Amino acid sequence: MAFVIEHMDGPLYEWSFIEYKHAASAIGREELWVTNLSRRGVERISPFASAYTKKAHQLLDINTLCVLDIDAEETLTPARASRFTHFVFGGIMGDNPRKHRTSSLIPGAKRFNLGKSQFTTDTAVMVAYLIKKGVKLGEMHFAYELEVNVEEGLSLTLPYHFLVIKGKPFVSPELIRHIINSHSF
Ligand SMILES: C[S@@+](CC[C@H](N)C(=O)[O-])C[C@H]1O[C@@H](n2cnc3c(N)ncnc32)[C@H](O)[C@@H]1O
Repeated sequence: MAFVIEHMDGPLYEWSFIEYKHAASAIGREELWVTNLSRRGVERISPFASAYTKKAHQLLDINTLCVLDIDAEETLTPARASRFTHFVFGGIMGDNPRKHRTSSLIPGAKRFNLGKSQFTTDTAVMVAYLIKKGVKLGEMHFAYELEVNVEEGLSLTLPYHFLVIKGKPFVSPELIRHIINSHSF
């Protein structure tokens, strides 16, 4: 079984790199694959996940996998997840309004949504991982957006849904530091 992030953004931006690392630390190194990377991307990702230059459809039988796509008609449930061994996500930075780029990921594969709100890629991996473990979407808690305090009197709002675990948003502390350090006003 594996949770597969197909990198789709060209350069491996620091934001994506941090999200992929966070997903791996949450679900375990053995269960996270990152595909469609450059050779340099493979070098960077390999210490914490299985990393490939190939695309997911070149590594896997299409019948064993499903794609997680907000635009899919059906929602992933524990019963539906039990039919698949591999769960494929778009390694795409969130956009608002959305450009629906996940629709180009493995045409012909079975697809499910995780609800109709956009998650960051690492959050989507964690939500699907919990569903595969038997937790229903309705049993999880979410925050509708995340406010990052950049400095006194200045904050940024990330317009994505975040999973809340034990009262804390599921977000990498390294990503918060990256956002604070890379914004100049
Ligand atoms: C940050 S999202 C980018 C989605 C992109 N804006 C689009 O419209 O296709 C990155 C990935 O997380 C997964 N994802 C995020 N929210 C999801 C949801 N509600 N249902 C299913 N997959 C989701 C998808 O695999 C998606 O490609």
